[in-house]
Amino acid sequence: MAKPRVICTRKWPDRVEAELKARFDVTLNEADVALTQDELRAAFDDYDAVCTTVTDRVDAAVMAAPKRARLIAQFGVGFNNIDTEAARKASLAVTNTPGVLTDATADIALTLLLNVARRTYEGETMLRAGEWTGWRPTQLMGTSPQGKTLGIIGMGRIGKAMAKRCYHALDMRIVFYDAFPVSDAGVPAEQLGTVEEVLAVSDFVSLHCPGGGENVHLINAERLAAMKKGAILVNSARGDIIDEAALVASLRSGHLGGAGLDVFEREPKVAEALTSMRNVCLLPHLGSATIETREAMGMTVLANLTAYFEGRDLPNRVV
Ligand code: DGY
Repeated sequence: MAKPRVICTRKWPDRVEAELKARFDVTLNEADVALTQDELRAAFDDYDAVCTTVTDRVDAAVMAAPKRARLIAQFGVGFNNIDTEAARKASLAVTNTPGVLTDATADIALTLLLNVARRTYEGETMLRAGEWTGWRPTQLMGTSPQGKTLGIIGMGRIGKAMAKRCYHALDMRIVFYDAFPVSDAGVPAEQLGTVEEVLAVSDFVSLHCPGGGENVHLINAERLAAMKKGAILVNSARGDIIDEAALVASLRSGHLGGAGLDVFEREPKVAEALTSMRNVCLLPHLGSATIETREAMGMTVLANLTAYFEGRDLPNRVV
C-alpha cells in the first residue's frame, strides 16, 4: 500500500525528519523558507496531512474544499494561526503538541522576568561596548523578586510551571486569573476573579493564556494603566495578547517598569520603539527552542500522524 503523503512546512530536527521519512512519503522544507499562501493552498490539494507551525497562516482560503488533505498536524501547542472554524467546515482534523514544551517555555518566561528585573541586558550591553569602568555600589540596581507578587494570567500547564519556579526558587507570592476554576495550582496561589484584580496587586505579570479570539489585546492601554507603577510584564505566550502600541506608550511614560517579550504582535516584525528601549528584554520566539523539546514536539506530531493513518483516536486533537 502506498505510504500517506505528508508535507512539513518547515525544517524539523534531524532525528524527527528521519522518523518521518521512515514512515511516510514526506516532503520536507530543506530551504526552511515559509511557504506562500498559494503554496500552502496547494499543499492541501496534494498531501494527506499538512504539518504546520506558528508561522503558517492557515486561513479559510487556504483550507477551502481541500482536494486531498484531511489532517493539519501543528508543530506547537498554540494553534491560533489556524482558523479552526474553517477547518471544521472543511472537515479537517487539527492536532497540536501539548505537554512537551511546558518546562522549556516556563524557563524562558523566568529568564525574561529575571533579565528585566536584574537589568542584565543593560549590563551586558555596557560591558560589550567597553564602557564598564568597574564595580560601583549604585550601578545598574535592579529589583529583587523575593517577596514580591507574581500575577499569572492563564493557569494552564505553562502558567503552573512558571508559578512553581517563582514560588520555590524566587520566594514569590503567586496570584492568578484563569477563566475556569483551578483547584490545584501546584503551589500555594490565590485565584482572583478578574484580570484587573491580578494586575492591581502584581509587581510582575506573566502571560500564559492562548492567543487569538477574545484574548486579542487582553492587555490593552486601560489594563496597562491598571498595573502597578513600575511593574514588569512578561509575555512568552502569544504576541497578540498585548496591544504593542499601548505597551510602548506605557513603557515610554514610565508607568510600566519594564517588559520581557518572547512573542510579538506582527512576528517577525518588532515595534522599532521597543528595540531601542533599555528596560525591555526581547527574544525571537524561543520558548520551546531546546533540542530536547523540539524533538519531543516533532515526535508528538509523529504520534498524531501515525494514529490518524492507522485510524485510531488522535492523541492531541483540537478539532
Ligand atoms: C508553541 O508551541 O505554541 C510555540 O509558541 C511555537 O509555536
